[in-house]
Amino acid sequence: MIITIDGPAGSGKSTVARKLSERLGIPYIETGAMYRAVAWWCKKNNIDIEKRENIINALSNMNVRFLTAGASFIVMHDGVPLNDELYNPEVGDLASRIAQIPEVRKFLTYRQRTLASYGSCIFEGRDMGTVVFPEADYKFYLVTSLEERAKRRVRQLEEKGIKVSFEETLESIKKRDYQDENREIAPLKPAPDATIIDTTNISADEVVETILTSMSGAH
Ligand code: DC
Repeated sequence: MIITIDGPAGSGKSTVARKLSERLGIPYIETGAMYRAVAWWCKKNNIDIEKRENIINALSNMNVRFLTAGASFIVMHDGVPLNDELYNPEVGDLASRIAQIPEVRKFLTYRQRTLASYGSCIFEGRDMGTVVFPEADYKFYLVTSLEERAKRRVRQLEEKGIKVSFEETLESIKKRDYQDENREIAPLKPAPDATIIDTTNISADEVVETILTSMSGAH
């Protein structure tokens, strides 16, 4: 069984996917962390991402592994889990830029489909229901107001010990939305058969309940 949860930055996808994973007892994959891992690797190795051959080289040398463990999704480098490194705003911006590069999308799409071959899984991201798993059993698309998303992002970063301003976060989310929605390949948009859930005024637990109810009514 494949469940996809797509939506813009800060719509609560990761929290919802993690909680749903706990409820259903199946792993979840945070595909944004995979794009962030490529961005982090490029930054760490001072790779000029404007040159296509540099990106191709970086992808073949990147010793980063993607693992699931219970209801956690882990990005490992040299046997150490990456966490805070992936979530700073600079890496987020770079991830949104490298996500426009066809080779990067092809590489990560292949990795995502490989992870799906091990069994039932929840995939959360931008193009899970449209491009990577068009045949998914259940598809959801989360929408949330811009202000609420910025608030959540600030809180999420604070929990990780990273301080950012609300205005800057709002601007960077706006910019990311634009980049994600307007790129040529796999732009952010709901799959025609996705169930759209507005999460602006409801908690992550309520979103999970909505998803479970929709799943039990679908078959
Ligand atoms: O979900 P996130 O904010 O951690 O994602 C970081 C960036 O990765 C986002 O700006 C766009 C990109 N991304 C993507 O293009 N496709 C995905 N399936 C997931 C993320």
